[in-house]
Amino acid sequence: MSSDHLIEFKEVTRTFGSGERAVTAVDRVSLHVDRGEVFGIIGFSGAGKSTLIRMINGLEKPTSGSVTVLGQEISAMRESRLPKVRSRIGMVFQQFNLFHSRTVSGNVAYPLKVAGWSKARRRERVAELLEFVGLAEKAGQHPEELSGGQKQRVGIARALAAEPDILLADESTSALDPNTTGEVLRLLRRANEEFGITIVAITHEMEVIRAIADRVAVMDRGRIVETGRVYDIFSNPRESAEAGFVESALKDRPSAEDVQRIRETVGGRLVTVSLQDSGAVSTVLGSASAHGVTFEIVHGGMNTTKNASYGLLTVAVDGADAAVDAFIAELSSAGRVQEVHG
Ligand SMILES: Nc1ncnc2c1ncn2[C@@H]1O[C@H](COP(=O)(O)OP(=O)(O)OP(=O)(O)O)[C@@H](O)[C@H]1O
Ligand SMILES: [Mg+2]
Repeated sequence: MSSDHLIEFKEVTRTFGSGERAVTAVDRVSLHVDRGEVFGIIGFSGAGKSTLIRMINGLEKPTSGSVTVLGQEISAMRESRLPKVRSRIGMVFQQFNLFHSRTVSGNVAYPLKVAGWSKARRRERVAELLEFVGLAEKAGQHPEELSGGQKQRVGIARALAAEPDILLADESTSALDPNTTGEVLRLLRRANEEFGITIVAITHEMEVIRAIADRVAVMDRGRIVETGRVYDIFSNPRESAEAGFVESALKDRPSAEDVQRIRETVGGRLVTVSLQDSGAVSTVLGSASAHGVTFEIVHGGMNTTKNASYGLLTVAVDGADAAVDAFIAELSSAGRVQEVHG
């Protein structure tokens, strides 16, 4: 293993269950992440992303193959030795997982307490981190008094507290609206740039990859079907059937030229919505006439996997301004409005 490889997967497979009901969540995956990188893993729901990331801190063990982290084979490690490696790996979750009984400071201080830092050092480090995430004035509040984005910033401060080498982010922005998502992603990027921390971020959103990752692995049904530098993948997606995720995600988002062309033929406001549950969105679209607006689907499509439907759909919504606003608001509560094209 090259010393630059902070994380290395060799032919890793993880199967759940047995016999006919066996599910291969991760299927012969080999990959490496270098020190200082932001490595993104993207794929549909059920692709195996969470199972993969959980093998990095030993929360999950491979059925076969090996996972080496910070020079140690974590997949072969006894349970009693895991805490030491885990203390060098921070983790951020979709649902934040904050302690509700503790204050913001108490949450950030927690891993330091576990690691045996003195009270004085803890206090100093917590202040520094809250400053870094822009929440110094919230130190004494409780998580339920914070917005989603603020909660996630506390989650990030906590994950960074003990100065880990690696930060794992599992859908860290999926519960947030697009503006807040941007804020959290910029914070992760800054943590990488200012502290040199290596980040592995998993997501099903192309925008997240585009915003923070240096390299990306595309996962589909347990397999890594493509890896490369984010720039190369965005500028030159492969024409293979395997790279379907990248291709469809790119194709489903209208380019500037698409938007211009659409505008020449249809009126109204152009909105791109990401669909995770096609039912919810079609219900809203069905309510267009009740809102006194009309709509036309002008771009996009749906993809389905075993567990879910995904896609980006662009609609042109026409009607009185206020009615269009109300309709778009309802649309964003059912799906996620990715962009209202200006
Ligand atoms: N503990 C488990 N027991 C049984 N099956 C599991 C377990 N964990 C995951 N799986 C299965 O493994 C597959 C991959 O799941 P995983 O959660 O890793 O996917 P994911 O890419 O993170 O999906 P999502 O985007 O929905 O979070 C799925 O088919 C899932 O049902
Ligand atoms: Mg997951």
